[in-house]
Amino acid sequence: MLTKIENVLTKEQVHSARQKLAAAEWVDGRVTAGYQAQEVKRNAQVAEGSTASKEVGEMVLLGLARSPLFMSAALPLRVFPPMFNSYAGGQTFGTHVDTAIRQISTTGQRIRTDLSATLFLTDPEDYDGGDLVVEDYYGEHRVKLPAGHMVLYPATSLHRVEPVTRGNRVSSFFWIQSMIRHDAQRTLLFDLDTAIQRLAGIEDAKVKESSVQMTGVYHNLLRQWAEM
Ligand code: NI
Repeated sequence: MLTKIENVLTKEQVHSARQKLAAAEWVDGRVTAGYQAQEVKRNAQVAEGSTASKEVGEMVLLGLARSPLFMSAALPLRVFPPMFNSYAGGQTFGTHVDTAIRQISTTGQRIRTDLSATLFLTDPEDYDGGDLVVEDYYGEHRVKLPAGHMVLYPATSLHRVEPVTRGNRVSSFFWIQSMIRHDAQRTLLFDLDTAIQRLAGIEDAKVKESSVQMTGVYHNLLRQWAEM
């Protein structure tokens, strides 16, 4: 399942994030890439653990915590500290799959990357190219969202970032270990939760009764499947 989450950051937050990141130390993106990804990754990223990374990362995490859609779609157990990259002058990240297990450098804690996230920090009209293309069994999905919006997709997918031929595409990227490891189960829970939310506020005794029962099913499935 690919989920678009609008307004994780406000326009003002995006502006402040861009200012902080512009002043940060940028390094070659290959420092955090695995053996195979190194061959296709051409971008720059903010040094991991830097002050700018921590400050803006905190802003992103607070934005996620305020988003019921993120909570429902990701069912997060752990979120990797957000990182930041930029693509300009034809830079690109060819087709690859994200590393399954990542270690958080500051704490040594490992997370399993169930979901990948890209939070856009540049508006689409400010650059050409740079589409995030995610492949799944239904074909290719192109994603290019307004600044402040985010996409979540299964980290098991092959994906790429197309060359940026004008402007500078700045984004935050990170991974989530979900309480629900399998995308198919997570999608079922998300669909069920969405259906339950849609029934909320309908003043009808039978609807309420069904809604309570469906909520019970939701929690019982979560109880069966969740890993912590
Ligand atoms: Ni990737």
